[in-house]
Amino acid sequence: MKDKILVTGGTGYIGSHTAVELINSGYQVVIVDNLSNSREDVIDGIESITGIRPRFENFDLCDTSKVSDFFSTHQDIKAIIHFAASKAVGESVDKPLKYYRNNLQSLMNMLDSMIRFQIENLVFSSSCTVYGQPEKLPVTEQSPILPAESPYGNTKQIGEEIIRDTVKANDTVKAISLRYFNPVGAHDSIKIGELPLGVPANLVPFITQTAAGMRKEISVFGSDYNTKDGSAVRDYIHVVDLAKAHVIAVERMVKEKQKAAYEVFNLGTGNGYSVLEVIEAFEKSTGEKLNYKIVGRRAGDIEKVWADTSFANRELGWKAGLDLESMMLSSWKWQQHLMANKEKYYE
Ligand code: NAD
Ligand code: WQD
Repeated sequence: MKDKILVTGGTGYIGSHTAVELINSGYQVVIVDNLSNSREDVIDGIESITGIRPRFENFDLCDTSKVSDFFSTHQDIKAIIHFAASKAVGESVDKPLKYYRNNLQSLMNMLDSMIRFQIENLVFSSSCTVYGQPEKLPVTEQSPILPAESPYGNTKQIGEEIIRDTVKANDTVKAISLRYFNPVGAHDSIKIGELPLGVPANLVPFITQTAAGMRKEISVFGSDYNTKDGSAVRDYIHVVDLAKAHVIAVERMVKEKQKAAYEVFNLGTGNGYSVLEVIEAFEKSTGEKLNYKIVGRRAGDIEKVWADTSFANRELGWKAGLDLESMMLSSWKWQQHLMANKEKYYE
């Protein structure tokens, strides 16, 4: 058995997929989640994929005394992957303090514990949102960080700064921030996937819910962008590819292959697809027809962004391997699984 890894937010969307990849690579996984945006039965899904049930503790990572108790009994943790955060961009505009408190307090509690309990390694979930609308595409890790469009985005920028300063001030603390582009898709087994609460704000869950008959039609936000077909362009990445990059980041840290005590990587495919292309790819790969209408731009949206992934390709030896079609197919299979278990997921 390899080292013990703490996965915060591990019953969530990206955390659960990462827990699976870590367990499959031989790591011992401990999950902490307060289930504020996920369900405890995700642990069953992880167990049924891997054959191993990760240890699960349900508490709020902002609760300093619970965090302290937890680390006192888990002093052998080798690395923390810190996914836990609130992530709804729109809600963050209405409730900024909820976002600053939850996302930053939980992060600071992790960093404090790392210093106190001599845990060396942190992987942090950052986001391409830190780049805003870049002037030059694709975006590299050196592209300028622009003023955040939302309190949520700001928590990622501030979070990165807090980590940078903490690493600088403490020889024993090392960190890697991973800037995700747009994660979509589900594990091929369809035992875990994304479970948005209420009306989805993100494109792909909205597409799958529309195809499933839960929504009447998709609104395509904007048709006058300076892009190939006028709709906005993003770099969609399969969640399993993303999860695998976390295992590699952990490996790089525990094997002391980092070139600097604090590193930042873009995680995307390097391809930009427009909203209309995503809709077309969904229809083509699943055979389902989608109702959609073109409406005005959504406030706060950027026009286009996709990643330069060469630093991650070179340094991590990682490359996203799954294409848009498999992102769409697995999202659709997952949605069908949710529909078949409606009373459980949509009560
Ligand atoms: P998610 O909501 O599915 O998972 C986050 C998990 O953290 C949830 O299970 C939630 O219950 C838990 N959590 C939140 N606050 C907590 C707290 N105080 N204590 C304990 N548990 C807490 O989100 P996700 O999509 O898996 O995102 C994971 C991380 O990646 C987040 O930090 C998010 O900001 C970041 N990220 C997500 C995306 C995306 O599009 N999904 C893109 C870029 C970055
Ligand atoms: C994708 C494209 C929409 C819904 C958000 C966060 C970002 C990151 C990822 C965490 C956009 C369009 C959407 C719909 C549409 N999260 N769209 N109709 O906005 O790129 O990024 O999630 O860090 O911070 O902002 O993702 O999936 O919401 O939108 O036309 O019903 O689809 O306008 O162009 P986004 P998204």
